[in-house]
Amino acid sequence: MIKFDHVSKIYDNGTKALDDLDFEILPGDFISIVGKSGAGKSTLLKLIIREDTPSLGTIFIEDIDISRIAPKDIPYLRRKIGVVFQDMKLLPTRTAFENVSYAMEVDGMPRPQIEVEVPQFLGLVGLENKAGAFPDQLSGGEKQRVAIARALAHRPLLLLADEPTGNLDEVNALEILTLLRKINEMGTTIILATHARELVDKIKKRVVVLESGKLVSDVAQGKYRLEAST
Ligand SMILES: Nc1ncnc2c1ncn2[C@@H]1O[C@H](COP(=O)(O)OP(=O)(O)OP(=O)(O)O)[C@@H](O)[C@H]1O
Ligand SMILES: [Mg+2]
Repeated sequence: MIKFDHVSKIYDNGTKALDDLDFEILPGDFISIVGKSGAGKSTLLKLIIREDTPSLGTIFIEDIDISRIAPKDIPYLRRKIGVVFQDMKLLPTRTAFENVSYAMEVDGMPRPQIEVEVPQFLGLVGLENKAGAFPDQLSGGEKQRVAIARALAHRPLLLLADEPTGNLDEVNALEILTLLRKINEMGTTIILATHARELVDKIKKRVVVLESGKLVSDVAQGKYRLEAST
């Protein structure tokens, strides 16, 4: 589904954020990218959504070289990808229901379908009884679950999550990961970037370790070593 073909990213100031990454993500994978602060995790995700382009190498998504997509076609690429970021803000003046329905309206989905599907997505993340709550009436974990429901509303083939558990305690963090695993089991490919290696071990999925932009380990079942992580 996604192929990194000898991808390096060197920022304008000379920082080498990614160094010759060469790996593939298969449809239906649940892959966790772990590494210390500055290891290159967010850079990797930004390249996948074409927020930035590689300095060297090529990224293919479903056999398309995404560096070659015309700017006008980038929204089509992004429509296939749901994103959940740690600091991703919900619309503060809209309820949980409206935060999710807004995503569907933007996609041009007809209103009757929206009315049926929003409760289904909120139910999936365990928030059917919070549909009318505003973001400041929700806990951190609940807000993050609304953000996940919103990302799913676009019916992405691929869900990218950058440190989605960063602001949460361990119990809530594990709940979010369990939810991501459930979404994965329903068929969505998931790429999770996180420091939380103990949590990632618990979900027993593929783990890729980055160190200073290099891929230093790629293990199928959540067992790996990482020295002196922050
Ligand atoms: N726009 C930029 N310009 C220059 N350097 C950058 C830019 N964005 C990131 N970097 C540098 O690239 C490296 C990788 O950053 P990145 O944000 O990918 O790390 P990360 O693994 O996501 O870290 P964290 O866990 O702190 O979020 C770091 O050295 C960072 O300082
Ligand atoms: Mg980051």
